[in-house]
Amino acid sequence: MKLSHALTALIFTWFAVLGCIQAVTLEVHEGNSTCIKAELSASLSITYNTSNSTRAAHVSLPNSTTVDKGSSSCGTGGKSPQLVAVFGPGHALGLSFSTNGSLYSVANLTLWYNLSDTSIFPEANSSDVVTEVSASVGIWAMINTTYRCLSPTTVRVGGATVTFSDMRLEAYMPGSDLSPTESVCVADKAATTTLPTTAGTTTTAAPAPTPAGTPERGNYSVHDSNGTICLLAQMGLQLNVSYFSLSQNKTVQNVVNLTPNVTRSSGSCAASSATLALTEEQTTTLNFTFTLNSTSNKYHLSKISLRANWSDMTAPFLASNSSLNYLRSTLGHSYMCNTEQTLVVMSNFSLNTFKLQVQPFGVTTAQFATAEECQVDQDQMLIPIVVGAALAGLVLIVLVAYLIGRKRSHAGYQTI
Ligand SMILES: *[C@@H]1O[C@H](CO)[C@@H](O)[C@H](O)[C@H]1NC(C)=O
Ligand SMILES: *[C@@H]1O[C@H](CO)[C@@H](O)[C@H](O)[C@H]1NC(C)=O
Ligand SMILES: *[C@@H]1O[C@H](CO)[C@@H](O)[C@H](O)[C@H]1NC(C)=O
Ligand SMILES: *[C@@H]1O[C@H](CO)[C@@H](O)[C@H](O)[C@H]1NC(C)=O
Ligand SMILES: *[C@@H]1O[C@H](CO)[C@@H](O)[C@H](O)[C@H]1NC(C)=O
Ligand SMILES: *[C@@H]1O[C@H](CO)[C@@H](O)[C@H](O)[C@H]1NC(C)=O
Ligand SMILES: *[C@@H]1O[C@H](CO)[C@@H](O)[C@H](O)[C@H]1NC(C)=O
Ligand SMILES: *[C@@H]1O[C@H](CO)[C@@H](O)[C@H](O)[C@H]1NC(C)=O
Ligand SMILES: *[C@@H]1O[C@H](CO)[C@@H](O)[C@H](O)[C@H]1NC(C)=O
Ligand SMILES: *[C@@H]1O[C@H](CO)[C@@H](O)[C@H](O)[C@H]1NC(C)=O
Ligand SMILES: *[C@@H]1O[C@H](CO)[C@@H](O)[C@H](O)[C@H]1NC(C)=O
Ligand SMILES: *[C@@H]1O[C@H](CO)[C@@H](O)[C@H](O)[C@H]1NC(C)=O
Repeated sequence: MKLSHALTALIFTWFAVLGCIQAVTLEVHEGNSTCIKAELSASLSITYNTSNSTRAAHVSLPNSTTVDKGSSSCGTGGKSPQLVAVFGPGHALGLSFSTNGSLYSVANLTLWYNLSDTSIFPEANSSDVVTEVSASVGIWAMINTTYRCLSPTTVRVGGATVTFSDMRLEAYMPGSDLSPTESVCVADKAATTTLPTTAGTTTTAAPAPTPAGTPERGNYSVHDSNGTICLLAQMGLQLNVSYFSLSQNKTVQNVVNLTPNVTRSSGSCAASSATLALTEEQTTTLNFTFTLNSTSNKYHLSKISLRANWSDMTAPFLASNSSLNYLRSTLGHSYMCNTEQTLVVMSNFSLNTFKLQVQPFGVTTAQFATAEECQVDQDQMLIPIVVGAALAGLVLIVLVAYLIGRKRSHAGYQTI
């Protein structure tokens, strides 16, 4: 354990040196006491506009980075503690902390960058100082412990990303130095356990919100303007998305489950079209649109759209296809498919459904109407029926043979 920790540290330090990323130490004091201390490396990737195109600038926090005493504070008088690190001509990175008594976390991360710095932003079409704030940073630890994350972790801030590595930090410090007890981030725990076999890939942080497995089945519904339920759905959902990963610097295919208890459902119902919108923690929105043909009284799933804004993405992922023809059923029935189905939406996005039952039209009692089951389920149901029938036939044959045999032997006795 100790050795692998040391190795992890060594490997990350080595990468940091190779990438010319400097580690900086930053402290916020008040009187004689230290309240925030951070040792970290950070590299920033910022997209900006030139007169005719969009470019990306890459910059690391230089070792000349200092704490801005004016805007940093320990959070007296109801304000939250804040660390503001300044570097270069008017660039800055700010971390605001909050606590609930047992945990503390980075409540938001603010990035200020000065587009008039032509060494970083050549040919920028503006000379403004841009401010971007992210409130989902994912850095938290138990109070009186040091947050440790040696693995690179990427935070999206507006059109920029900040990748921290070799990070140790503490706020609400009980003493003047980092607490010896550490709260280790998930990426480090993963890196430590996989280190012996895959040392080369440990620099990649886990990017997806939820690891895959069979997804949990969620219960979703949509209410109409009168508050009555007009669409019902029960299903386990798994997204299969290809996107460009920041941490791995390549396109990856990621399989991610939707977690029902953090997913909200909403939507709308109209005469010939109904939409179910599922939102998971503001980062994932998945919409289903069903269409009813009132002539034939048949409905189907006609459109799926996805918006995903995961921390490892360079830009939000959008995919939509409105000419689909899935989950076909008849008005007055629900559609059911217990078998896993794959609904291809686009080349870079498909959706796997598990134990699905939906009814987008004609919901009268907040309960599913009689189900029309998908062909795969019917085929699977057929197997036990066929086997059962074959067995029953066999039993019958044996029985008949036995009865005939008995009759014959009876007759035999009587003739003798
Ligand atoms: C800071 O430390 C000095 C010397 O140890 C002490 O005299 C002073 O009162 C302290 N100030 C505060 C605000 O605690
Ligand atoms: C860059 O330009 C595009 C459109 O040309 C605009 O939507 C975007 O907001 C601009 N980005 C920045 C950082 O100004
Ligand atoms: C953008 O403008 C610059 C300078 O005006 C020019 O050199 C460059 O070729 C242009 N690039 C494109 C893609 O139009
Ligand atoms: C910053 O790094 C450079 C080169 O690595 C070094 O020469 C310089 O002394 C460092 N400055 C500080 C303040 O540590
Ligand atoms: C602080 O928040 C965490 C996680 O949200 C929770 O588990 C813990 O009970 C909270 N502590 C207090 C004192 O509210
Ligand atoms: C950042 O979080 C702190 C603490 O929750 C809050 O006081 C501050 O207003 C936030 N700043 C922004 C720009 O959201
Ligand atoms: C943190 O440490 C300080 C000083 O040692 C102590 O007063 C405080 O109760 C501790 N807080 C927790 C939540 O353990
Ligand atoms: C809402 O209720 C009113 C009165 O009962 C009814 O006329 C209307 O059609 C209902 N609207 C919907 C969307 O069900
Ligand atoms: C990403 O990969 C490309 C080519 O594979 C390489 O040119 C580029 O430098 C890499 N970027 C980073 C940040 O590693
Ligand atoms: C969601 O469910 C999982 C497992 O079923 C559980 O571990 C987690 O605490 C739940 N989260 C919330 C916010 O209820
Ligand atoms: C509805 O179904 C009828 C009969 O199957 C078909 O002729 C018609 O084109 C369909 N309408 C739409 C809008 O798909
Ligand atoms: C999903 O539907 C909601 C509400 O109908 C809408 O606000 C949102 O933009 C839609 N998202 C996508 C990705 O289509």
